[in-house]
Amino acid sequence: MTDETQEIRHDEESLAAIANLPKVELHLHHEGAAPPEFIRRLGEEKSIRLDGVFDADGGYAFSGFERFLRTYEAATAVLKSPEDFHRLTLALLEQSAENGVVYTESFLSPDFCGGGDISAWQDYLAAIREAAEIAERDMGVTLRGVVTCVRHFGPDQARRAARCAAETAGDFITGFGMGGDENQGALKDFAWSFDMAREAGLQLTVHAGEWRGPAEVASAVDDLRVARIGHGVRAAEDPALVEQLAEAGICLEVCPGSNVALGVYKRLADHPIARLRRAGVPVTVSTDDPPFFHTTMRDEYVNLARCFGWHAEDFTTLNRTALAHAFCDETTRAAIAKRLDTQ
Ligand code: ADE
Ligand code: ZN
Repeated sequence: MTDETQEIRHDEESLAAIANLPKVELHLHHEGAAPPEFIRRLGEEKSIRLDGVFDADGGYAFSGFERFLRTYEAATAVLKSPEDFHRLTLALLEQSAENGVVYTESFLSPDFCGGGDISAWQDYLAAIREAAEIAERDMGVTLRGVVTCVRHFGPDQARRAARCAAETAGDFITGFGMGGDENQGALKDFAWSFDMAREAGLQLTVHAGEWRGPAEVASAVDDLRVARIGHGVRAAEDPALVEQLAEAGICLEVCPGSNVALGVYKRLADHPIARLRRAGVPVTVSTDDPPFFHTTMRDEYVNLARCFGWHAEDFTTLNRTALAHAFCDETTRAAIAKRLDTQ
């Protein structure tokens, strides 16, 4: 335990109240939210071999970021049709609802939904959207989509994803972003795609400062002009940059459980989330790829409460911050605000 952490002991009742809060999640990969049983069943139905994807306990097998990305892509290979994504969308939103999530954004990759072809992408998107409408009606969780390109697929493939995003921008597809291997390439090589998405009216986020240091976060702000940053936690190593993020109100989509599971930080106690928050950076909490990292939104909240001594009011503020930075229209924001206030 560092002197950061306060080891405040919550009683069971206050932890349960924190776990049960209504939640807003901004950083969730659609395929990365697939339960391993879901992927295994789909593989069996389609007779697709999934060698090396699962560990002995039936969870996803990987250690370290590069192997994580390989396992992720191997698992995703069973998702081959709009119908598969319809089923996946219902499965992941069911998990969100079980965790008290009332609003979530997920990263949708045209690369995994028709290989970047616009007309195939439209078919996949229609299926995802139909499932989201069912989930909203039956489970009370609202979904918006952030079209995402994959950094290690390169700038040309990113342009195809950006065209898919621009073509389908609207009340459901509200953002554009990029995930993948941050250690490859330079963010400025993707500026064309981000400019195109911005011109189509989409709001922007990019994974940066998960693996590379503060300079990558600065590049995200300067070269891609994003409103939010996926992770961004390594900005904490540069006090001037932290101040700049706070002043500009750039929101960090922080995924503490993911960072610990992938080894960005050894222990939650070493994580800079509390420091960033104290410095006035708009900080939010998400799960990234929950079944891969053996986490849920409830677990994230309980672990943060235990480690940093945060109370229910801290999480309520966190959720209001997330909603303020959500990529949704004002009618949706107002409706979700009511749900945060009344529960
Ligand atoms: N894709 C899915 N999860 C990711 C992560 N944590 N970082 C980068 N790309 C990802
Ligand atoms: Zn991510």
